[in-house]
Amino acid sequence: MYMHTMTKRCDQVQAWKDLRQLRVESKTFDLREAFLKNEKRFEHFSASAPHVFVDFSKCMWDERIEETLLELAEQTEVFALRDAMFKGDAINTTERRAVMHWLLRTPKESLVSPALALAHKEVLATLDQFLNFAEQVRANPDITDIVNIGIGGSDLGPQMAVKALDEYVLPSKRFHFLSNIDAHEIDRLLKTLRPQSTLFLISSKSFSTLETMTNAGFAKDWFLSGGGQNIHNHFVGLTSNTELAKAFGITTTFGFWDWVGGRYSMWSSIGLAIAIAIGESGFKAFLSGAFEMDQHFKTADARSNLPLKMGLLDIWYRNFLQYQSRSIAPYHSGLARLPAYLQQLEMESNGKSVDQTGRGLSYETAPVLWGEPGTNGQHAYFQMLHQGTDVIPVEFLVVKNPSHSYVRNHELLLANALAQAQAFMMGEPKEGASSQEEMARHFCGNRPSLFTVLDRLTPRTLGALIALSEHRTFVAGAVWGINSFDQYGVELGKKLTQNIVSQLGALHPLNIDPSTKGLMGKLDLKSN
Ligand code: F6P
Repeated sequence: MYMHTMTKRCDQVQAWKDLRQLRVESKTFDLREAFLKNEKRFEHFSASAPHVFVDFSKCMWDERIEETLLELAEQTEVFALRDAMFKGDAINTTERRAVMHWLLRTPKESLVSPALALAHKEVLATLDQFLNFAEQVRANPDITDIVNIGIGGSDLGPQMAVKALDEYVLPSKRFHFLSNIDAHEIDRLLKTLRPQSTLFLISSKSFSTLETMTNAGFAKDWFLSGGGQNIHNHFVGLTSNTELAKAFGITTTFGFWDWVGGRYSMWSSIGLAIAIAIGESGFKAFLSGAFEMDQHFKTADARSNLPLKMGLLDIWYRNFLQYQSRSIAPYHSGLARLPAYLQQLEMESNGKSVDQTGRGLSYETAPVLWGEPGTNGQHAYFQMLHQGTDVIPVEFLVVKNPSHSYVRNHELLLANALAQAQAFMMGEPKEGASSQEEMARHFCGNRPSLFTVLDRLTPRTLGALIALSEHRTFVAGAVWGINSFDQYGVELGKKLTQNIVSQLGALHPLNIDPSTKGLMGKLDLKSN
């Protein structure tokens, strides 16, 4: 039984105090001066890990800050918690569960501890089963449309990956992702489909999420009323609750385990849509890229450990520079859903306010993540990023080699990303007297950005990138001393929804505040 041995919380260790002092001393830190002082700044602050290169040199830090952050990681025992995770300890202390999404991508030939041998055997068996099923679907000309019905981690990862890996997707199949309970979504989609050529993947770890079960029931009614035959060949359950799936009437299910968090689950059978889209070899490459990043996180020393460095930078930005958000700017349209995926990963993992012992925190945790693909963001909110009152760090992500042959277009895309990062840093000096217009045209600069490069966007490199993001999130949570793997914050909304639904039309609804009651009247919400 893992007991968090957090001897000292991050705000009580010496490094935290040293960072506070460095914050005071770095009030006048200027990126432009930093490069003038150190012509090797780019080389020093560049880092690589399997399939990923990151330029940290336009981030708001210097060697002393970096060193002290590494001391913070040591004093808060980040690597000890990492090792506990990879040992299979129940580091998800509130739910008393292990955190082993990494086991899902650990290959057969990789040695795991005897204590995990059985779990690994089950993982490999389930992987073979759902990959075989995926190949059968890919070979079946009668199935033209695959509809993943799920939400949160049962939607965002698969949807993001299928879109990102579009060049690898089987052209004869169409993939749809239904998540919202808003019937506009399912109504519009089903009008374009035929029951006999559609396969529904009911993706839900709990198999009880209201949105997913409502949409699943809607799809089942549509299928049967539309003359669909052999429902068992058109509905598959992806869940850790196979009993509820069977009760729904699904006989084909692919399970996963309670030690896989929803937002960490696309490596499991929740990733079936990805496996159907890109095939067995593609999915195995996806797993393999993530496994390579796991090995890097496990074995690289602190100075060259990319997830550690990124997680520590997040601490510096959040707790010392007080940045409240981070803007994600993937300069690849295939990564349009990456910001949404990262939102759940980081904000559902680290949007907490008590530590592993249940004590309230005296410091901030997860920032707000948001963003859109570049260059679109440049024409929507980059105005604020350049000239707004808040400094918001931007994370550029570019892919060196596109999957198209339009060299000039790609050069223009990359040039835009480089220029934006340069503009954030360099700004534009004002010369002479400053009229109102000249001031409105002024760019103060000294605004941070991080620049990530992938050589290509492939299943392998995407797997590595996502695993990097998972481990980066882990590092920040470990420093903060919080449990990154539960999500009780989503429960109250669900409970109050049930209360409202159960009282629709009631003359004297209970536990309904005047505002909600007034709005229910305005919306004329009555029981059927
Ligand atoms: O948002 C709460 C949550 O439980 C997420 O953690 C999860 O990914 C999502 O809802 C869907 O849950 P399930 O896969 O059990 O339907």
